[in-house]
Amino acid sequence: MFRTRITELFGIQHPILQGGMQWLARAELVAAVSNAGGLGILTSHHFASTTELRDEIRKTRSLTGKPFAVNINLFPAARPVKVDEYIDVAISEGVRFVETSGRSPEPHMKQLKDGGVTVMHKVTGVRFAQSAERLGVDAICIVGTECGGHPGEEDVTSLVLVPRVVDSVKVPVVAAGGFADARGLLAALALGAEGILMGTRFMATIECLAHPQIKDWLISARETDTLMINRGIRNTMRAMKTETSLKALELDRKGAALEELMPIIAGPNACRALTTGEVNAGVISCGQVVGLVHEVKSAKQVIDEIIDGAEAIRKRLCFT
Ligand SMILES: Cc1cc2nc3c(=O)[nH]c(=O)nc-3n(C[C@H](O)[C@H](O)[C@H](O)COP(=O)(O)O)c2cc1C
Repeated sequence: MFRTRITELFGIQHPILQGGMQWLARAELVAAVSNAGGLGILTSHHFASTTELRDEIRKTRSLTGKPFAVNINLFPAARPVKVDEYIDVAISEGVRFVETSGRSPEPHMKQLKDGGVTVMHKVTGVRFAQSAERLGVDAICIVGTECGGHPGEEDVTSLVLVPRVVDSVKVPVVAAGGFADARGLLAALALGAEGILMGTRFMATIECLAHPQIKDWLISARETDTLMINRGIRNTMRAMKTETSLKALELDRKGAALEELMPIIAGPNACRALTTGEVNAGVISCGQVVGLVHEVKSAKQVIDEIIDGAEAIRKRLCFT
């Protein structure tokens, strides 16, 4: 058993969280992670209406009696629903935990705190962690540059960022970016983190709704099979290396503007790729840790193996 301030804060058995994942972090996966003793995090911003989010929260609750969270992405984007409205739905449905990401949570902290919500904010650097702590968040999730999704613009690895953030804030820290197995959990704890959050590893689980061809791609991929796009528009994203993402990279290097990139990088294209299995239909977030993911497993199997393996390593390391 690994008891930390993170397991206490969220009332979970194991210090393992499943990160918000647009199009994928749906009720089935979230409930499976929470039922296995971790914290599942339901993504909100792919829902085109508050009713859809409300229904998904209810569906999650019908699948698990365990704690789960909702991810609220604050990156400025054209959305059919305002961020405040997503938050209102989460609060009115009794959601107690929210993961914010993408921008400072400042404009939303009052609403979240008045609603009794425990907030974990995901950041990409030390100064963002410190300012989020000043705003009153309850936990920080720090992502290193190896992560799937948006690693920020500074290219610092988890091995450096995790202890830097741990040394810079008092609230508990969750490490993300590059974690997939027992060794990673123990390493994160050794660095001072009190839990790990994984995206890429949970993409290749039975309960994740990604098409089987996407999961096949993941389990065959190596750590060199990701790339970073959208640097020019300062919204860097680590994605699966495919013909389409290579095209986006080429445009990016030529200084393409957002309008030129949009036909390739638009969210609905990624949704199509994930649901049809046609990897070139869009660009799909993916972390370097994909090189450590060799098999599609249930979320429970992933979590159990990490915990059992970490216990075994802990014993092995306790030599006198
Ligand atoms: C397919 C995919 C979609 C993601 N979508 C989101 C998202 O919508 N919101 C968010 O905060 N993070 C998102 N992320 C980032 C993850 O929550 C998490 O921070 C990241 O995957 C951790 O790094 P790892 O991939 O090395 O495990 C996404 C990651 C992946 C792989």
